[in-house]
Amino acid sequence: MMNPPHHLLTLRAPRHTVSTTPDSRTSVAARRASLCICIALAVPTAAQLDGADLASACDDCHGTGGRSEKPDIPSIAGFSEFAIMDLMQTYRDGLREGRRMERADGTETDMVEVSRAITDEELEAVALHYAGKTWMPHAQPFDSRRAQRGEAVHRVKCAKCHIEGGSIPEADLAILAGQWRDYLTSQFQAFDDKTRRMVPKMESKYESLSDADKQALVEFYVSAGGQP
Ligand code: HEC
Ligand code: HEC
Repeated sequence: MMNPPHHLLTLRAPRHTVSTTPDSRTSVAARRASLCICIALAVPTAAQLDGADLASACDDCHGTGGRSEKPDIPSIAGFSEFAIMDLMQTYRDGLREGRRMERADGTETDMVEVSRAITDEELEAVALHYAGKTWMPHAQPFDSRRAQRGEAVHRVKCAKCHIEGGSIPEADLAILAGQWRDYLTSQFQAFDDKTRRMVPKMESKYESLSDADKQALVEFYVSAGGQP
């Protein structure tokens, strides 16, 4: 433990200085007050934690400020706080598999481990940190004919939840528009293989897609980043 901060010391002071108050009452009150502060110190709230510092371990894989340089790792900068926390919960609950990957220091981990190692308070601080960033779509080559078809499919089957073409944090979902193609393709694959759970209302729409629809949807989301 660190040395107690000054406010803890001043709380104890009245016991010796205020002689008019009955000793027992003062000390109970003082002990209560310092107990509360000790609990507050032991479990810092999200606001007290340094989200940027905690997120540096995530940036190892997700890129500086959550903008990924690696096409198989999603950018998460600019996702809403709720979306980040909700997505992390899906790993915690085992509704989604994590791919084993090397960190910068050579040790291996995956998102299921990462999501279970972080406390709720730390996660909230990290989520707030990424929610404060701006989503910057990745420019990737795309097939514009397929993207147009994808837009039409999206409008009918996906736009109810993934509003504005899946481009804005206000949907409180993962942002799709301008995400890396490799990553998006891997998630479509995970939905197909049932290694990632879908919410029932998405599943019923998803199950009605042809393979060509799925390819077209990926092209549509990728097209939001523009040609490089
Ligand atoms: C070892 C690399 C690695 C580390 C460290 C890591 N991630 Fe991930 N993260 C990934 C990969 C790879 C995926 C996507 C594929 C998968 O599910 O394995 C992912 C997916 C995610 C997703 C889901 C995004 C989406 O669009 O669905 C979120 C949110 C996320 N990570 C947040 C975090 C946070 C927060 C931290 C730090 C506490 C973190 N990650 C640390 C590699 C990593
Ligand atoms: C009823 C609402 C709803 C509908 C309709 C819906 N989705 Fe989703 N979608 C979700 C939720 C909830 C998630 C899981 C949380 C998340 O990924 O943000 C999700 C996740 C996803 C993901 C994973 C994103 C990531 O990076 O983690 C993709 C890709 C996706 N949806 C595509 C689609 C497509 C394509 C359609 C239309 C065929 C569709 N969704 C229809 C609600 C919906």
